[in-house]
Amino acid sequence: MINYRELLGEERASVAPYQPGKPIKEVQRELGIENVIKLASNENPLGCSDKAIEALKSFLPDISRYPIGDSYYLRKKLAEFHKVDMDNILIGAGSDEIIQLLYIAFLKECDEVLSPSPSFGEYYLIAKAMKSDCKWIDCNDDLSFNFDNILSSITDKSRFIFLANPNNPTGIDFGEKEFIDFMNKVPSTVIVALDEAYKEYQEESRQIDTIGLMKKYKNLISLKTFSKAYGLASMRCGYIIANKECIAMLNQVRQPFNVNMASQVMAEASLSDKAFLDKVIKSNLAGKQFIYKSCEKLGLKYINTEANFLLIDVGDGKKVFEDLLKLGVIVRFLGHPKLTSYIRVSIGTESENSILIDKLKIVLGL
Ligand SMILES: Cc1ncc(COP(=O)(O)O)c(C=O)c1O
Repeated sequence: MINYRELLGEERASVAPYQPGKPIKEVQRELGIENVIKLASNENPLGCSDKAIEALKSFLPDISRYPIGDSYYLRKKLAEFHKVDMDNILIGAGSDEIIQLLYIAFLKECDEVLSPSPSFGEYYLIAKAMKSDCKWIDCNDDLSFNFDNILSSITDKSRFIFLANPNNPTGIDFGEKEFIDFMNKVPSTVIVALDEAYKEYQEESRQIDTIGLMKKYKNLISLKTFSKAYGLASMRCGYIIANKECIAMLNQVRQPFNVNMASQVMAEASLSDKAFLDKVIKSNLAGKQFIYKSCEKLGLKYINTEANFLLIDVGDGKKVFEDLLKLGVIVRFLGHPKLTSYIRVSIGTESENSILIDKLKIVLGL
């Protein structure tokens, strides 16, 4: 008789799956409460650009057609936006798909991925799905990346190093100088993937000139997404900027219609709405300052963030996560051994941030 577990392999079958933030509707259904806010998945609390909505509406009559396979117009727009050639860009169904494509193309079964820990779980889970491996490398005690640890972990098997900058779940970033020092020491055969999902939220003076550095380092690639600052998480649209040969090889393994057309038109329209992006950044900054100040008043420690979420030290992270849930506030408990006392909170609208603090006070008896 067929044994699917055996076919997948015991090691892969026993990997715990990705735990997304709970959807609002699920919490409403399970707890029977109406007022629920979600600050759990680093989504955009302001929605997306009106221009993207308009583009979606205009596209609707064409829904019966297959999408443009190579996302031509979106790539053209992105090429102008980033001042690179179209052939330096490939679009995916979220950066999740880009990670998978990178592994399909360049990661052999005996190869491994390195990434600092804690970081984004998909680097590990997708490597495992490909029957390869991902080694988590310890961060410093303050949760910043330990580049020396990463460098000393590189072996002949290392094919990728994934660095989220700013990192999820900490919100901590690193600067250009330390990154260049690091790149100078990484063997040129190891692909360094800078996951810049939250770059738009970073103060401009702290942002690394990744595209500039790619001219020197052929093994440097950048992953970007429309899921965060552009507010298109549900549309599944991300992209990679890299050396043309890298993009050509990824195109060899990409499915012909990997990005749906609604995503393509919405993402393209979003890039023309700088005013919306500015509003998002401004609102995030104000929300961050409000949560910082509120935590300070309550005597709660937090980790300074360069992203649209932050870690708050609440003592017993799991219990506070569960208690907040019962009060209709969905946050995240990551369960990482270094983060047991923290909850990760996405920065919401002004009213969501106030609700969060009010409910935190109740849960912590402050
Ligand atoms: C660091 C990081 N990279 C990538 C992603 C995935 O983004 P996408 O929605 O484009 O797949 C996330 C999502 O939370 C993330 O935190």
